Amino acid sequence: MKFKAMKKLLLAAVALGCMLVAEARGTEDVRLPQPDLNKGLTVMKALSERQSVRECAPDDLSLDDLSGVLWAANGVNRPETGGRTAPSALGKQDIDVYVFTAEAVYLYDHAGHSLKHRVDGDHRSLVAGQQDFVKTFPVVLLFVSDTSRFGMDGERVRLMAAMDAGIVSQNVSLYCAANGLCTVPRASMDTEGLCKLLNLTPAQLPMMNNPVGYPKK
Ligand SMILES: Cc1cc2nc3c(=O)[nH]c(=O)nc-3n(C[C@H](O)[C@H](O)[C@H](O)COP(=O)(O)O)c2cc1C
Repeated sequence: MKFKAMKKLLLAAVALGCMLVAEARGTEDVRLPQPDLNKGLTVMKALSERQSVRECAPDDLSLDDLSGVLWAANGVNRPETGGRTAPSALGKQDIDVYVFTAEAVYLYDHAGHSLKHRVDGDHRSLVAGQQDFVKTFPVVLLFVSDTSRFGMDGERVRLMAAMDAGIVSQNVSLYCAANGLCTVPRASMDTEGLCKLLNLTPAQLPMMNNPVGYPKK
């Protein structure tokens, strides 16, 4: 009996070890901790701190800050209705947030507040385009509008998609300003390369991105 219990414990430890290694290698989905709604500067102080920053410290983003910045970007803030931190044109919530790290690319699952693994490897250079500094940021958030959610197309839809992405990006900038992180909103990127990598449909448009890190000391 004792031996059986020990064997079970050992197997559980091995399984947990495998999970942690897999997570570190970026091959698995990642559950995020709950965002801390009581931290950070006031909105007015965050607004006074907001600025574009194009260099950062080499440190990885903590899971708590990744959780906070994604929830701020476009997380669920009204669970009873599924309402989100960012408004969207016609309430269509067309913006998907992709998370690029040195290990992998993930899609932010707002409903489960988790990361869904999409592609292995470091693909930050595709979001960087011509601006090499982007690759030095530990995390780059990419905002893709799925315009099919509007149920129509045309110039007006593209404008609404751009506005929706801008709002999500500003949420990120304010979270960063309020919590001692640095970021810059960007429209430049290798759009074609990103569409290929993420297997996007013609209706899914990469609109903007925000590299996120800690300020250089
Ligand atoms: C829609 C949009 C696109 C931008 N694209 C880029 C970009 O591709 N690369 C970049 O370095 N900065 C980009 N920026 C940042 C601006 O250059 C920056 O906001 C501006 O110089 C003002 O500086 P501040 O943000 O510190 O006030 C962009 C900003 C916006 C709003």
